[in-house]
Amino acid sequence: MNPNIRAATGKDLEAVLELERVGYDSDHFGRRQFLHLLTKANAVTLIIDGEQSIVGMCMVAFHRGSSSCRIYNITVHPGHRRNGYAKMLLEEAQLLAISRGANVMRLEVRHDNDIAISFYERYGFVRGERKRNYYDGGKSAWVYRKRLTTSDSVTR
Ligand SMILES: CC(C)(COP(=O)(O)OP(=O)(O)OC[C@H]1O[C@@H](n2cnc3c(N)ncnc32)[C@H](O)[C@@H]1OP(=O)(O)O)[C@@H](O)C(=O)NCCC(=O)NCCS
Repeated sequence: MNPNIRAATGKDLEAVLELERVGYDSDHFGRRQFLHLLTKANAVTLIIDGEQSIVGMCMVAFHRGSSSCRIYNITVHPGHRRNGYAKMLLEEAQLLAISRGANVMRLEVRHDNDIAISFYERYGFVRGERKRNYYDGGKSAWVYRKRLTTSDSVTR
């Protein structure tokens, strides 16, 4: 498959919800929050289209007056993992963030999500503070940050 990355719209809501459902098993955003993020919020959801539905997404939120942006979520369909899709989405998200003037990308990741932690650390995110009781079931989060520069922001 030759992946095409595009920005999702409200029309992608059902596909995004389905990817969330199969992609991870707790801390779901749900319909209202996704609809808001897709249509009203200062955020962009990058998606990769597959043959049947979307195979990956990465949601980036921007904050007016701030040079920091936040990744809410990177999810790849379980049947399409380890094909470099999350890496491609992250690269695109970083380019987008730079084009919008952001110089720091931050995110929260559940403290026991070893795969996601490996992924983010591999691409230069640095662990920061711990947020207790951040996720369902009282699980805590690690905050990760990456400084974006035009020269080294991309992962390739
Ligand atoms: C984390 C996630 C997005 C990675 O997606 P992916 O498309 O499989 O990742 P990629 O193929 O781009 O992997 C890039 C690199 O990340 C690391 N990585 C990815 N999956 C890994 C795994 N299962 N174990 C260890 N390292 C892994 C590797 O360094 C990998 O490079 P390599 O394949 O050359 O070794 C995916 O596992 C996922 O959707 N998980 C559930 C949702 C989630 O937890 N999201 C993050 C929280 S916001």
